[in-house]
Amino acid sequence: MVENPYLLKEAEIVEKIKETTDTYTFRIKCSDSFKPGQYNMIYYFGIGEAPISIAGFDGEILEHTIRAAGDVTSHIDSLKEGDLLYYRGSYGNFWDLEIAKGKSLVLVSGGLGFAAIKWVMEEAIKRKDEFSSVISLYGSKNYDSLLYTYHYEMWYREIDFKITLDNPDPRWKGDVGLITELIRKTKLNKDSIVFMCGPDPMVKFSVIELEKKGITPDRIYVSMERHMKCSVGTCGHCMFGPFFVCKDGPIFRYSEIREFFERKEV
Ligand SMILES: Cc1cc2nc3c(=O)[nH]c(=O)nc-3n(C[C@H](O)[C@H](O)[C@H](O)COP(=O)(O)OP(=O)(O)OC[C@H]3O[C@@H](n4cnc5c(N)ncnc54)[C@H](O)[C@@H]3O)c2cc1C
Ligand code: FES
Repeated sequence: MVENPYLLKEAEIVEKIKETTDTYTFRIKCSDSFKPGQYNMIYYFGIGEAPISIAGFDGEILEHTIRAAGDVTSHIDSLKEGDLLYYRGSYGNFWDLEIAKGKSLVLVSGGLGFAAIKWVMEEAIKRKDEFSSVISLYGSKNYDSLLYTYHYEMWYREIDFKITLDNPDPRWKGDVGLITELIRKTKLNKDSIVFMCGPDPMVKFSVIELEKKGITPDRIYVSMERHMKCSVGTCGHCMFGPFFVCKDGPIFRYSEIREFFERKEV
């Protein structure tokens, strides 16, 4: 948690990478400290702010991948290299790689949820000797919505990195079908530790597939997205059962949130 959680900081955009028609990765010069799984509140003057996952940080360059979903994110996506980006953070808990030591680490992501998994995957690659294996399963709607394509060659080389597209495409020679199908096809140990981020239905049905493989919900950690305003546990916008997603999360052990996850109105 930052000392003054409302303190706004500025940082220069040094690179803007086009990922898809409506999604950009911003590489920002920054000397703060962050952990994989955390998020920042990104601010646009006169418009508002939005929680955005930290997609990477190497001590100097912070990465955020932002889809133009509404007012704030559309304005941020119009920023250019050399512009300043304003943020407050970092917030939330983090992916704890220590719990996966000596075991198989399985990363499961869908759509833009991959932004919340990318950095912990990069850290797992650096530390891959500490795990019995590192498997990353990523599902994307179609060929044109794939994120971080410029890293794939390296990721395929380093770990068991698998992608599936919901919709077939003549340009795509890999797996086709929902992420649940890819989980079904992949050999997974029942003592694996799973880190997951994606839309709620993807999470719900992926957990069911993982359970069929003997992986119990206490071994599955999920990063949740909920509408947030304050991000410090005061406004109540992000409440999920008894939890504040903004400060108790965004990462939860699935066994602790399952009963709320499966209630539609929570
Ligand atoms: C922890 C966390 C990490 C995130 N990481 C990323 C990331 O890395 N990249 C990224 O692009 N996004 C990320 N998001 C999602 C992003 O914060 C939201 O999409 C945010 O709402 C965008 O703000 P906006 O003002 O641009 O759009 P909004 O105006 O908030 O609209 C976004 C969408 O939400 C709908 N909506 C708006 N208000 C409500 C409401 N009260 N209830 C239900 N639906 C509503 C809108 O119709 C629209 O479809 C993350 C969210 C969380 C909580
Ligand atoms: S966003 Fe305000 S309590 Fe969580």
